Amino acid sequence: MSLAEIRTERVAPLGDVWARLRVEAAGVAAEEPMLASFINAAVLRHGSFVEALAHRIAAKMADPQLDVLLIHDVVNEAIKADGEIAEAAAADMLAIDERDPACRSLLQPFLYHKGFHAVQAYRISHWLWNEGREALAFHIQSRVSERFGVDIHPAARIGRGIMMDHATSVVIGETAVVGNDVSILHEVTLGGTGTAGGDRHPKIGNGVMIGAGAKILGNIHIGDEARVAAGSVVLKSVESRCTVAGVPAKPVGGPCDQPAKTMDQVQIADGDLDTQDD
Ligand SMILES: CC(C)(COP(=O)(O)OP(=O)(O)OC[C@H]1O[C@@H](n2cnc3c(N)ncnc32)[C@H](O)[C@@H]1OP(=O)(O)O)[C@@H](O)C(=O)NCCC(=O)NCCS
Repeated sequence: MSLAEIRTERVAPLGDVWARLRVEAAGVAAEEPMLASFINAAVLRHGSFVEALAHRIAAKMADPQLDVLLIHDVVNEAIKADGEIAEAAAADMLAIDERDPACRSLLQPFLYHKGFHAVQAYRISHWLWNEGREALAFHIQSRVSERFGVDIHPAARIGRGIMMDHATSVVIGETAVVGNDVSILHEVTLGGTGTAGGDRHPKIGNGVMIGAGAKILGNIHIGDEARVAAGSVVLKSVESRCTVAGVPAKPVGGPCDQPAKTMDQVQIADGDLDTQDD
């Protein structure tokens, strides 16, 4: 799967997302005066989604080595040069709103979800990496790791419509590829086995659901719309629409349909969902 293929899917309507975000922000600012000045600074005073996103990422990423003005310049440069960054961020917000039963608005991930923030900061580091600015890309990777407990190598390739829920302890290695519409729970590792060099990390197809604590190791392929059970250690490629579980992971149960989107963590026939709303 090439990055070009990853990027052809699902174009989020940026204007619609921005309009909805502003309405939600205005509602919260009116309802809760304690948050009004924060909401104004984060959303309402900006003229576009791109501006607000750059401000939000910079506010989250600033540190004593790279103050908020400096990091804002870098983020702005990346977002303006590569329109995909804001489009993907909007798709991620829509994905979280659609799949996370605990999510009540687009504003929630935009302001508070560290998985969302970590993925957007990764997108900036990935742009820097592709521009040959490796030192700054590594600085951002390190900052994301310190701040959110999420370690994504800047060279990894990640699609859009990503829900990284809870996010603590997620690790994504250098040669990993993640497709579109993938749901990744906390404590997931997309890592190497430690015995191979070069292209050594997993390739995750579109619409895959990866349960909490799953470790997917080596240059293996997880097929579209597959499910990886919580706590599994996956060492072999997984067929599309197949569920694997255990250590080492083996196929279990029947086929599944768009598990990352529905967050279907039980058999289709069982119907009842929402086990992740904890
Ligand atoms: C993989 C998963 C989607 C399977 O759901 P399912 O299709 O309903 O499958 P079942 O529960 O019928 O299980 C099928 C078999 O796999 C086993 N299994 C399911 N999940 C497993 C797991 N995490 N580890 C080991 N075995 C597992 C079941 O015991 C069952 O075995 P059996 O056939 O011998 O009885 C679900 O178990 C899962 O892990 N979801 C991720 C949840 C998550 O990450 N939550 C975090 C919330 S914060």
